[in-house]
Amino acid sequence: MSCTIIVGGIFGDEGKGKILAHIAETDGASVIARGGVGPNAGHTVYIGDRKYGVRMIPSGFVHPSARLLIGAGVLVNPDVLMKEVNECGVASRIGVDKRCSIIEEKHIEEDKSSSYLSKNIGTTGTGCGPANVDRVKRIAKQAKDIDSLKDFITDVPLEVNEALDAGENVILEGTQGFYLSIYYGTYPYVTSKDTSASQIASDVGVGPTRIDDVVMVVKAFPTRVGEGIFKTEIGKEEAEKLGIAEYGTVTGRARRIGYWDGEMARYSAMINGATMIAITGLDRVDASCRGARDYDKLSDKVKEFVARAEKDVGLPFKLLSTGPGTDEIIDLR
Ligand code: GTP
Ligand code: IMP
Ligand code: MG
Repeated sequence: MSCTIIVGGIFGDEGKGKILAHIAETDGASVIARGGVGPNAGHTVYIGDRKYGVRMIPSGFVHPSARLLIGAGVLVNPDVLMKEVNECGVASRIGVDKRCSIIEEKHIEEDKSSSYLSKNIGTTGTGCGPANVDRVKRIAKQAKDIDSLKDFITDVPLEVNEALDAGENVILEGTQGFYLSIYYGTYPYVTSKDTSASQIASDVGVGPTRIDDVVMVVKAFPTRVGEGIFKTEIGKEEAEKLGIAEYGTVTGRARRIGYWDGEMARYSAMINGATMIAITGLDRVDASCRGARDYDKLSDKVKEFVARAEKDVGLPFKLLSTGPGTDEIIDLR
């Protein structure tokens, strides 16, 4: 049995969805439980040519036999959840913790109409910040109060800990990235919660002594959406010239993009307690590596890039992603 947490190491959108799908398939996860903030996240996963962008259900849904859970720490937008449950056909295997806080229309309106939030911070406009404010004020609705969710209500910590007791593989899915943490990130340009591995464990109700692995996902060219410092940022034109421009899953906004920053990755790996690193976007370092599934097929340029990054972080890079497809990956675990 093992309990693995997957977290983002920089500003989010590292490709956690894709890495999670690979680990779930390869290791045969029986439970995949989501932590993190809420529907501000957007995980992209491909099954064959079909692209899915999920904001509420765990991106591990692509693993057909896994029980899918949303932990108590997560904010739930019932409309977004129901839409995804139907589109992805997961009604029979999804569970929502009874204590999840609910995002209401008024939270979304406030997130969009507050010029401080929408312009200065550059939030996703999904109502997460204002909903967490109501949660702290202790006036929020909980999932157990919502009629449309009644078939899915469960006790997530009980399910997850019982699965671990039974010797099953459990994956805890993080969202956002380390430097968007309200504690450790680039405050005030952060999300409304901590995003580190300890928070993800707490979100789903798993104690720190039960965690076996923390996989921290980084990308070869980090990106950021919204405002805030980005030391290694490169201009839009240069990004386009290099063929590495990117757009957001939730907002469609152009992602700011920059060069690898080893110092940032090392610091976030420390606080996340990472046991290994997964790196995505190696095909952006050298297009000839697109789709490689064997370390020996990588060019010297990519091998040198990975070796340098490994030295920067001081941890083994065990999952090397060479394209967006779930099978475009080299697994050295
Ligand atoms: P958040 O929880 O929102 O932080 O999302 P995420 O970490 O799941 O990432 P998201 O899906 O938002 O963004 C990652 C993007 O990179 C998606 O468009 C993926 O399809 C793509 N991607 C993932 N791995 C690779 C890779 O190895 N190469 C390339 N070129 N793209 C990749
Ligand atoms: P909020 O979480 O919508 O309040 O947005 C706060 C900040 O976090 C903004 O800079 C957002 O762009 C950023 N953010 C929130 N969720 C994500 C995510 O999943 N990926 C990348 N950035 C995010
Ligand atoms: Mg995303």
